[in-house]
Amino acid sequence: MKLKRIVLGVTGGVAAYKAAELARLLVKDGIDVQVVMSAAARHFVGAATFQAITGHPVFSDLWDERVVDTPPDPALPAGSPPEGAKKHLGRPGAFLVSGMAHIDLTRGADAILVAPASADFLAKLVHGRADDLLSTLCLARDCPLLVAPAMNRQMWEAPATRRNVAQLSSDGVTVLGPDSGEQACGEVGFGRMLEPDALLDALEARFQPKRFAGLKVVITAGPTFEAIDAVRGLTNPSSGKMGYAVARAALEAGAEVTLISGRTCLPPPRDARFMPVVSAQDMLTVVESVVDDADIFISVAAVADYYVLNPSEQKIKKDAHILTLELAPNPDILAGISSREKPPFCVGFAAESENIEEYAELKRRRKHLPLIVANDVKEAVGSDSVRLILLDEAGRHVLEKADKQTQARLLVAHIAELYNTRYQ
Ligand SMILES: Cc1cc2nc3c(=O)[nH]c(=O)nc-3n(C[C@H](O)[C@H](O)[C@H](O)COP(=O)(O)O)c2cc1C
Repeated sequence: MKLKRIVLGVTGGVAAYKAAELARLLVKDGIDVQVVMSAAARHFVGAATFQAITGHPVFSDLWDERVVDTPPDPALPAGSPPEGAKKHLGRPGAFLVSGMAHIDLTRGADAILVAPASADFLAKLVHGRADDLLSTLCLARDCPLLVAPAMNRQMWEAPATRRNVAQLSSDGVTVLGPDSGEQACGEVGFGRMLEPDALLDALEARFQPKRFAGLKVVITAGPTFEAIDAVRGLTNPSSGKMGYAVARAALEAGAEVTLISGRTCLPPPRDARFMPVVSAQDMLTVVESVVDDADIFISVAAVADYYVLNPSEQKIKKDAHILTLELAPNPDILAGISSREKPPFCVGFAAESENIEEYAELKRRRKHLPLIVANDVKEAVGSDSVRLILLDEAGRHVLEKADKQTQARLLVAHIAELYNTRYQ
């Protein structure tokens, strides 16, 4: 589901300054954002910042007057004053309205996200308090509520906060984070608000359909590295971005995910079981140790086809001679898994530099895969966006160029469809 409109609640904590970046990311993502601040939040960051970023006036007070740009009743002709309108503002269709902000602001919203959520605000939510606009909106909502706590580590660890967070979770509120790390007060521990990009991801994840609910998915990602000597090796420029995006999309879809990854610079997805490896042989060993009870195996890793026979334990010294490396073929991890008697549902990736679809389809048939994802090596490796061609028994399905997270979500939807047709 694509989020269209959210109410972003900002409460009184130092992390309120990060809410401005969060608002910017949400707007950039095409989401209409209405900011509601607690009175304390206004001590930390100015409403004008949010107003400029979101293009909407910011509300704080239950008794605020609001600017309404279009009549709320579509039955009325455009330009008619909405109910409760006090004053026409001169701009076509813009009226000053007072009254039901505590209900109206969340009508039509897909979610309320409170970030940062102060310890005080969590306590208020638990007790169903409604003594300011934001808490009243939360109580009167008919959409999901997500909170991103941010506070000093002792406030977070306090028994009252622990009780409050447990209660909110059991009331169906989604609690995002917090993270651990250095805090504004100089202490180190749990209580830091998740970073704005992580909050955006978590928000979007919350609204993805749970197509993989109850399924175990094993994913390989990144490059492998075959040692030549103590410091050098054969590898490739795979960044791991596609495999990590697939892991995130599978998590969002409700799967239990194991991500087996060669060396990359990426942070592993928070909720995946993460198993780092170096060489193709390592990857094979780890895949075999976990794949037995997997429902789906997605091989995204760029596995080296060859390894170096007899790598030197010490760094090879430079001299004027030609150095000859002897290479031997690596095991084909995907073919090994897909040729098992009872294989998981296997999905391969084929990055080719020529005859992309033809070579990918040959690979799919040779390895007996229900689905292979073909992409152009020049465009795909290391980049943030890519065009994918999904090849299966029914033919080809083109996913026009888009960012890798979007592609990963579409791929997960396609896999779920094939998986359900086959097994349900
Ligand atoms: C400088 C300063 C920093 C604060 N930082 C936090 C914080 O990070 N998290 C928190 O829960 N409370 C923090 N507080 C306390 C809240 O601002 C206070 O509990 C306030 O009543 C919260 O109101 P609200 O929940 O309506 O926004 C801080 C207070 C001050 C003065």
